[in-house]
Amino acid sequence: MAEGSKQGGVESRVCAARVIDAVYSGRSLSDALAMPCVQGSHQPFIQAICYGVFREFPRHKHLLGHLLNKPLKPADSDIDALAQAALYQIDCMRVPPHAAVNETVQAARRMGKPWASNLLNALLRRYLRESEALNASLNGDEEATLRMPAWLTQRFRQAWPDGWRGLVEASGRQAGLTLRVNRMKIDPKAYLQLLAEKEILAHPHPQLSEALMLDRALPVELLPGFSEGLVSVQDAGAQLAAVLLDAARGDRVLDACAAPGGKSCHLLERAGGELDLWAVDLDAVRLQRIRENLERLGLTAHCSTGDATEPTGDWGQGTYQRILLDAPCSATGVIRRHPDIKVLRKPGDLTALTDTQRRCLDALWPLLAPGGMLLYATCSILPEENELQVAGFLERHLDARERPIEADWGLARASGRQTLPGENGMDGFYYACLEKIPG
Ligand SMILES: C[S@@+](CC[C@H](N)C(=O)[O-])C[C@H]1O[C@@H](n2cnc3c(N)ncnc32)[C@H](O)[C@@H]1O
Repeated sequence: MAEGSKQGGVESRVCAARVIDAVYSGRSLSDALAMPCVQGSHQPFIQAICYGVFREFPRHKHLLGHLLNKPLKPADSDIDALAQAALYQIDCMRVPPHAAVNETVQAARRMGKPWASNLLNALLRRYLRESEALNASLNGDEEATLRMPAWLTQRFRQAWPDGWRGLVEASGRQAGLTLRVNRMKIDPKAYLQLLAEKEILAHPHPQLSEALMLDRALPVELLPGFSEGLVSVQDAGAQLAAVLLDAARGDRVLDACAAPGGKSCHLLERAGGELDLWAVDLDAVRLQRIRENLERLGLTAHCSTGDATEPTGDWGQGTYQRILLDAPCSATGVIRRHPDIKVLRKPGDLTALTDTQRRCLDALWPLLAPGGMLLYATCSILPEENELQVAGFLERHLDARERPIEADWGLARASGRQTLPGENGMDGFYYACLEKIPG
């Protein structure tokens, strides 16, 4: 085998740099990883680098700051990405350091920036010589040691004065793979048996009957019956939504921010496919993902592009027995699965997000039938998007009351319930059940 091919060659480094650079310019990592260059036998290597770079962020950003005499220009963010990828290979992967350096230097040439190959060569070789001292110099820097942007740590600290450090640390750990078994096709115990036959180690989740937790992540194609719809990948905290919404067969149900459709599909599976389900999302491209998931699982729903702050068209007519609002949010509860959040989120985002959440809640409420229930959900651990948002809603809507969630998971908040990242293998989710008082 040619040197470097086992750990990916020059092309893999170029591709990883392009993906990382796309995230720098605002694209989500899961979206950027759909680039054609990622596909193929080096996909696991490229994915490992890209996820790793954002898990390590901003530690390597600080290291680069020390290693560069002057900062790179904004137009050379691809070279910054290439350097980040190299530091990750050297520090955290079993890539021989000389291979990481050589392939990175060649990658800069392949990217049409030969001037950067000299720079990277010198910078990475210096890092190999002085890594101990350079890493030690970061010891006093909280941002580098916690691997979390300072402004996000500050938000965690304000929200959870006692447990913030544990939450930051849990957000930096790699999350395991959790499956949701499609009961319409197979019983969870029988699926566990199928996994055992393939020597895939898994165990049932203690609180969620359809959730199985795998000991080791693996590509979905290796899961028995994945393409036939026997299982889906879904965090256990996300699986709480369908349990809490508790839709009955025949109910008209609206999932107002539905893409890529994980919770919509789970709702349908639990009702044997017998819901009049309307899945709406603002993003037409992401809406297509709902259709693909429905098809793989053998389910049907009405899928529409739409804005939950302004219900229109067929989905905006009539009333629903159940509404799920899985609102756009800071995603501070899912950083362990989506470490790119550390780069994508900006301090000012929260104001716009809480405003959208409020407008969605107010616009959807008239669509709920008297006696019906709206489940408000976020994957945030910040009170302004969660219990404070719900408190404001209850003040504005006198025909609404909260149904407390009695559960053996999460923490009761002033309103609603919160899971925290890492708790029983779950991500950080917030849920509140809002009932419409029959008039
Ligand atoms: C947290 S994700 C939903 C995840 C989904 N419920 C699932 O379980 O697969 C939030 C979604 O809200 C959508 N969104 C954002 N603003 C919206 C709006 N004003 N109206 C409808 N959808 C919106 C985003 O496109 C995104 O797909």
